[in-house]
Amino acid sequence: MPEVDLPLNLAGSAQPPAGGTTTSSILVIDDEVGIRESLEVLLSLEGYTVRTAADGDQGLRILELENFDLVLLDLALPGQSGLELLPQIKDRQPELPVIMITAYGTVDNVVEAIRSGAENFVQKPWDNEKLMADIRSAVARHRAEEENLQLKRTLKQRYNFSNIVGKSEIMLRVFDLVAQVAPSRSTVLIQGESGTGKELIAKAIHANSPRRDKPFVPINTGAMPSELLESTLFGHVKGAFTSAVASKKGLFEVANGGTLFMDEIATMGLDTQSKILRVLQDKRFMHLGGIQEIQVDVRIIAATNTDLRQAVRDGRFREDLYYRLNVITVDLPPLRARREDIPLLAQHFLDFYASENDLSPRKLSADALRALVDYDWPGNVRELENCIERGVVLSSGPIIGSDLLPGHITGRSFQDALLEHNPNASLFDILEDIERRIIIEKLERCNWNQTDAAEQFRIPLSTLNQKIKRLNIEIKKKGKE
Ligand SMILES: Nc1ncnc2c1ncn2[C@@H]1O[C@H](COP(=O)(O)OP(=O)(O)OP(=O)(O)O)[C@@H](O)[C@H]1O
Ligand SMILES: [Mg+2]
Repeated sequence: MPEVDLPLNLAGSAQPPAGGTTTSSILVIDDEVGIRESLEVLLSLEGYTVRTAADGDQGLRILELENFDLVLLDLALPGQSGLELLPQIKDRQPELPVIMITAYGTVDNVVEAIRSGAENFVQKPWDNEKLMADIRSAVARHRAEEENLQLKRTLKQRYNFSNIVGKSEIMLRVFDLVAQVAPSRSTVLIQGESGTGKELIAKAIHANSPRRDKPFVPINTGAMPSELLESTLFGHVKGAFTSAVASKKGLFEVANGGTLFMDEIATMGLDTQSKILRVLQDKRFMHLGGIQEIQVDVRIIAATNTDLRQAVRDGRFREDLYYRLNVITVDLPPLRARREDIPLLAQHFLDFYASENDLSPRKLSADALRALVDYDWPGNVRELENCIERGVVLSSGPIIGSDLLPGHITGRSFQDALLEHNPNASLFDILEDIERRIIIEKLERCNWNQTDAAEQFRIPLSTLNQKIKRLNIEIKKKGKE
């Protein structure tokens, strides 16, 4: 009897929200009839559904009745101005992108609108091509966010994959496979570059298996010398070796009834490999130095970021163990092979880190998102996650621009990023921004341990703390699990 619902049409469920159409809708709020008409023509030609409103009240009424992907909002409206209207729109629909249009774009207006969550600012008379490019990327991002929400809901309902994001064909196939193999006790081998989500997938297999209420025990087999690894896996009796002053259970017993996740198995010693093969075959083993056989029921999930078959050819990995482990293989593609997942993952991490740091929701500007989608991500999802976390911590408003992304991703120098982030700031403000970024970077590298950071900066802890306070740096709570 299957213990979880088998996948029926996960691929189908990743489509836009039910009732959603493939054409996107835009609401234009502008008091000048000429502007409304020309935008209507321009946007309709691009395939958008367009609705127009001549003032704020009418705009809000239409927004209550229909769903939109974007609002084009004039700054100078009769009655309520665009700037007054913007927070009301954002209150009702925080996710809806709003692009401001104005002929009177003073710097103050730009700053205030962006602070209130406007996506972007367009000056009349606008350049059609640039306007369309801005609209296209804002709409695409909005769609991706909506889809992300929908997808999370579906995955959570169906598979309990609540924290895994992906909509690419290739990842949907991985999800299907995971859901299919989860209920069985088959050994699974997960292969993928570093940071592709191997441990996350292993946890999902466990969480969707009948073993879900028993332990999931991860062990990094590559990081330990053989003797320590064996005593950790199999346990030992008192006196088995010099430092064995008391007997100790091994992880095979700790994981009994559950799942043992053996990470980085390619580097495990050959002796240990043969012992593990025996447990896989006989489901029994002995404590180091012991004489009694212990029976266990443990499911093994193994992971590797190197080519295990090559390790077999090189004589570094036992062929029989390879075939034992490789009953089912889950191949996790690198992130650069599924770029369509990048906007979803980015938003997923923005939500996570904004809420972890008690910040209001964060979004990426259109050019920041473009830079992320274009980058090659050698460190895969983990690198993307770190990059977003940093952006969230550095951000001081709802929109994270490309100036808050690392220079190697945007191709911009640190100086360019600073000057772009502070176009009209005084030298002193820019220097403060530098100080803030450097301190955050150091704290990140020290795992947010202030004492270590102060020591490395060679300043007293009290000085660092004063700076943290003055520069309004949020001390991040540690760890994501
Ligand atoms: N599809 C995904 N959705 C959401 N988060 C993901 C996804 N894939 C990876 N992550 C996140 O990326 C980070 C790296 O994932 P994980 O530790 O599972 O990778 P890994 O393949 O085991 O890496 P390594 O080989 O370095 O051990 C984790 O924080 C994980 O939660
Ligand atoms: Mg891992």
